[in-house]
Amino acid sequence: MDVATPKAAILEARGISKTFGRVTALSDATFSAYAGEVSAIVGDNGAGKSTFIKILSGAIAPSGGDFLLDGKPVHLTSPQDARDHGIETVYQDLALAPSLDVASNLFLGREARLPGILGRLGFLDDRLMRARARQELEDLQVGLSSVSQPVFTLSGGQRQAIAVARATAWGKRIVIMDEPTAALGVRESAMVLKLIERIKQNGVAVIMISHSMPEVFEVADRITILRLGRTVRQMRRDETTMTDVVAFMTGASVEFVQEIER
Ligand SMILES: Nc1ncnc2c1ncn2[C@@H]1O[C@H](COP(=O)(O)OP(=O)(O)OP(=O)(O)O)[C@@H](O)[C@H]1O
Ligand SMILES: [Mg+2]
Repeated sequence: MDVATPKAAILEARGISKTFGRVTALSDATFSAYAGEVSAIVGDNGAGKSTFIKILSGAIAPSGGDFLLDGKPVHLTSPQDARDHGIETVYQDLALAPSLDVASNLFLGREARLPGILGRLGFLDDRLMRARARQELEDLQVGLSSVSQPVFTLSGGQRQAIAVARATAWGKRIVIMDEPTAALGVRESAMVLKLIERIKQNGVAVIMISHSMPEVFEVADRITILRLGRTVRQMRRDETTMTDVVAFMTGASVEFVQEIER
């Protein structure tokens, strides 16, 4: 590709607003995501990050603003509608079924059924699901001894990996993650960050909320900063520093942030 040609955004949000009664959660959120890149959304508590993600994933409707997918306007009416557009979300609580095994979790709500009469009777094609689950985890290099293992027997990091694998198995275009490492230890976080690298290399646009600056600077290609419901900056990671990002997030001066960091 010609380096001089700016890459087209796969997803663009312009001037998104959201009010809950008298509370304004978002007033002017602008954001772009690109195939094969990680776009991080950062901001202080209450900045509107989760609200914005819920709008992107079709869970709640915006009060105003425009969404473009591949340059074309869309209105996402539900999470299913977003999924139909290739947008998958890994929620903070992961939404896994702990008593079901790994393969069943990957297919939750999308169970592969045998064709023909058996399919109509509702038998699940276990063999096919297990084989596909194995393949998916292998592609992501998630080491698990068995896909027949119930999810409650897995560690936090492994569960997070399953939730991510489920999203990437179906969301071939855009995968949204709300604080993917918040509940994880150091080693497990590193594994999830590696997973994020891998799905990005598969050409997926990854959108990630994170409170961890080192993590954002490790994996993100772009950083969008929300403050009080507005996008105050969108930057490439290599054009900024943690000190600048914290200053934009809080509205404090860079000098003040440097003072605190000392
Ligand atoms: N359902 C709701 N009803 C009323 N107010 C809401 C609702 N959801 C969010 N808000 C308000 O909108 C603002 C933004 O909230 P949001 O959860 O999006 O912030 P956040 O950036 O995700 O914060 P955090 O880092 O603490 O998770 C907050 O003031 C919050 O109280
Ligand atoms: Mg939040």
